[in-house]
Amino acid sequence: MKVVSSSEMREIDRYTIQELGIPGIVLMENAAMSVVSETISTIRESRKVVICCGIGNNGGDGLAIGRILSCNHINVSIAVIGDSNKIKGDAKINYDVAKKLNIDIHEYNSQEEMNDFVTLVNGCDVIYDAIFGTGLSREVTDRYYEAIDAINHTNAYKIAVDIPSGINADDGHVLGIAVDADKTVTFCLPKLGLLLYPGASNVGELVVGDIGIPYVSVERIKSNTSIMDDNLAKHFMPNRVKMSHKGTYGKVLIIAGTKKMTGAAVLTSSAAYRTGAGLVKTFIEESVSSIITSSLPEAIIETYNRDDDNLSFEDKSKLLEMLLWADTIAIGPGLGNDSITKEILEVVINNFNKNIVIDADGINALSKDIHVLKNKKGNIIVTPHLGEMSRLTNMDIERISNNTVEVAQVFSKQHKVICVLKSARTVISSPNGMTNINIYGNPGMATAGSGDVLTGIIVSLLGQGLDVFDAAILGTYIHSKAGDRAKESVGEHGLLANDIIDSIPYVIKSSLS
Ligand code: APR
Repeated sequence: MKVVSSSEMREIDRYTIQELGIPGIVLMENAAMSVVSETISTIRESRKVVICCGIGNNGGDGLAIGRILSCNHINVSIAVIGDSNKIKGDAKINYDVAKKLNIDIHEYNSQEEMNDFVTLVNGCDVIYDAIFGTGLSREVTDRYYEAIDAINHTNAYKIAVDIPSGINADDGHVLGIAVDADKTVTFCLPKLGLLLYPGASNVGELVVGDIGIPYVSVERIKSNTSIMDDNLAKHFMPNRVKMSHKGTYGKVLIIAGTKKMTGAAVLTSSAAYRTGAGLVKTFIEESVSSIITSSLPEAIIETYNRDDDNLSFEDKSKLLEMLLWADTIAIGPGLGNDSITKEILEVVINNFNKNIVIDADGINALSKDIHVLKNKKGNIIVTPHLGEMSRLTNMDIERISNNTVEVAQVFSKQHKVICVLKSARTVISSPNGMTNINIYGNPGMATAGSGDVLTGIIVSLLGQGLDVFDAAILGTYIHSKAGDRAKESVGEHGLLANDIIDSIPYVIKSSLS
């Protein structure tokens, strides 16, 4: 599903109204109806409902919602915050109608009146927030700040109209303060700011309401950002075919693990098998190879000596031979931050002409000399978390965290790689600007080895023939869905990377095949 910025949404509205001739007042009515139909069952028994409206079109939606609820015999008060003389256009039509219907309207246009607003909202059990929508353009201050603060201090069930007031629709930043909603009914398409943190944590349950905008209006918008949903994911998942053998589903080479971090190799290799890879070969230092065999009997092991600073001639030849065998490679989990890792990475990048996933210590090696990417023969997916991205780009973590979409996009374009920038909202970008935001997963997944599992899932999908960008998107989706399933059985606190692996087959079986 497409995700849009505020200017893209404005263009969709403009085209629908001006070029197609669907009047704005019709869209406003549809928007109000969609909010009512998404919320009426929850609020039916409410004693008192307050609709908080600004003076723009979001406020106009709120005024229409107030009228529809009032006509349905729900006890509604409308609070207009701002100078009602400035309400214009379709919002003014709804304001005038509400007045004529004698709906209880209160107006708060000065600081002194805000105490009365606090009293009004304190006495209600449902609040609709229609103060600001996508038109919020600057920090929230004075009476607007106080109104949002008062709303947040009530115990009322809070429903945001289009977007919680205070969130920047383009990047999810909170402009001073934002309504902490229980549910948000957004119109036509999700806005970027609803999906990106910190704003995403104010959204509550997100519903996309149909307001009757024809598909032609949406289709024209060349938004390069999307989210994966369950129906689409099904379409991407590679099928099992009757007449097949293990080679059909990919020969996957995993270069991971050292004495200190043997588990990383086990996790990545297990995840690759659990996602459907036919053959997984793990290249690991000799002294710990038996640990892999005992924890993952299905693994095929190739070993090398890591006691010196460089690969021996024999080990390098062995590695080159495996590059000829493999359909795809994942390199980096627990591989060690030393000269041998850098050497192996360079051999792989310089010689392998298919798809490579670079993670963890592979990324650390890359950050010592990013220019090795110039020699690549195949497609590369890098999967940095915020700290690794900071090492790759020399930007501080906070700046990256506040601009994940832009940072991932710039990195992809600059180095011509797919970038999976991992955070609470993982962003997947490709060199041509296409970007996907993953909306699933939970804080329990912030646990050691979780990233190794993601790498194993993605490389497995590559082995099964998926396109490199699709594998990165679907892999991230499967990983977070498996994390959500694991959370259902073990909760967030004790969730282990292995729980994510155990859930992979169930996610694939229940929603993808
Ligand atoms: N403080 C005070 N006023 C502000 C601020 C601010 N920080 N930011 C914007 N405004 C004012 C604008 O000057 C304008 O009057 O708020 C109004 C814009 O509010 P919106 O209703 O968010 O914007 P608008 O473009 O009118 O409507 C967009 O309409 O299609 C519906 O709900 C849908 O979100 C969408 C909304």
